Amino acid sequence: MPARLAAPEPTWAVDIDVVVLGSGAAGLSAALAARPVRDVLLVTKDTLDAGSTNWAQGGLAAVLDPGDSLESHVHDTLAAGADLCDESAVRTLVAEAPTAIRYLSRLGAAFDESSHDHLALTREGGHSHRRIVHAGGDQSGAEVQRTLDESVRLAGVRVVERAFALDLLIGRLADGRRAVAGVRVALLDETGAVESVGDVTARAVVIATGGFGQVFASTSNPPAVTGDGVAIALRAGVAVTDIEFIQFHPTVLWTGPDATGQQALISEAVRGEGAVLVDASGARVMAGVHPQEDLAPRDVVAAAISARMAQAQGGVDDHVYLDARSIGAEFEKRFPSITASCAAEGIDPTTDLIPVAPAAHYVCGGVKADLDGATDLVGLYVVGEAACTGVHGANRLASNSLTESVVAGTRVGRALSWSLPLKVEAVDDERPAALLSADLRAELRSTMSKYVGVLRSADGLSTAADRLARLEEKTDSAVEPSRRSFEATNMLTLARAVVAAASARTESRGCHRRADAPESLDTWRRHLYVVDSDATVVESP
Ligand code: SIN
Repeated sequence: MPARLAAPEPTWAVDIDVVVLGSGAAGLSAALAARPVRDVLLVTKDTLDAGSTNWAQGGLAAVLDPGDSLESHVHDTLAAGADLCDESAVRTLVAEAPTAIRYLSRLGAAFDESSHDHLALTREGGHSHRRIVHAGGDQSGAEVQRTLDESVRLAGVRVVERAFALDLLIGRLADGRRAVAGVRVALLDETGAVESVGDVTARAVVIATGGFGQVFASTSNPPAVTGDGVAIALRAGVAVTDIEFIQFHPTVLWTGPDATGQQALISEAVRGEGAVLVDASGARVMAGVHPQEDLAPRDVVAAAISARMAQAQGGVDDHVYLDARSIGAEFEKRFPSITASCAAEGIDPTTDLIPVAPAAHYVCGGVKADLDGATDLVGLYVVGEAACTGVHGANRLASNSLTESVVAGTRVGRALSWSLPLKVEAVDDERPAALLSADLRAELRSTMSKYVGVLRSADGLSTAADRLARLEEKTDSAVEPSRRSFEATNMLTLARAVVAAASARTESRGCHRRADAPESLDTWRRHLYVVDSDATVVESP
């Protein structure tokens, strides 16, 4: 794989204390918390609100009800994570979650209330209590994004939109250790063509670029979510872990067999309010599958739906249905975005069944980091979906991700306001550079959905590896640099990493399910690490 993204030579330079890559809840929280003390530049390849945060429906998990307990939230998170969570990271997240909600409220986030001064709380899969805070019914992420966008601008964070982070600039500390010197950035025009390239030197680089659902043909993620920061880390030789655990959301709106790209999410909160899954013959999908039935953890529900689709009950093999009719007239008020998505397809959830299918939704793994964002590379910090802090294990508990983004983003920003790593000079980067043509994205994405989806097997993964290797042979230094070709190259790097880790993990655990190894094995209660852009998998980083 290319060791660098091919791009024109840099023609400008900027020096700053902290550069944050990405503008979802994690990046904005980090920038905001560092800003009172540091000069902060926030770089985003699109507009501020183009990432996943803006689309999040369910909300933010936090213990706010006196009948709930931190211990219960910890228990549910660990249970969903299928023995791969880092318990101390989970405990920190859960303990700090209520403060994160109060912080957002103070910044102006208008969360839904059940009565004056009491936040409305809903339930989602895997939670034993109602503890999901939401806004605008099902527009929770949009409210968090709006709040943080405004706060970041008011705080004087410098924001540059349509700027694509290409690769880290690396130098050496006096003791010889590698350290981050900054990041090379391409400024884009409205079509995604490169206008110029420059170097942003900084004492700290914070990657907060989110996940990479767009690596799959069908996803709940918006088009910008191509995992650029995780690919940057791999090219810099920073370990990525738990990357085989791609969470498939059980229910996106099914609009036809050929639908690709971003699909409308049908929030788990719909099941939290009483909806149930049925197949085309009318039989309940989740009855008898798990004690929590339709509110079982997400991996269990997605796998049960896939198994039911494979049985083709009622002659339907590519979707099942959500029966939300019991919610009645309240549905539109509680779920305005979902009502609009359904209406666009001629579906009235108060009278019709909603056709649904699983789609790629969230990357549980990512760049190995702690809850303060620190990684194994001096000067590099990673937060949000791009990071693997051990909070999610093999399967993220619903609505823990926005909470984690705000908690960890704020922690990294605060840590950087207290102290910055030493400044290092970048050394010339002679690594070979190339790109994958954007025309090959569709082939990559269909390969991933076909062979690396909810249910995997050694044969399918091996076919995927061969197809991705053929795409790799087509990477070339002559491909025109552009946002689309940068993204395509990053997507290929990540697809290869997922396939390598999924092939190595010969068991089923959390959201990594293998038809040829259906059991979870005690010997596999451990993490795998991908340590470079050639998808080398190792047992310890
Ligand atoms: C949902 O609303 O179902 C998604 C929430 C999440 O992914 O945490």
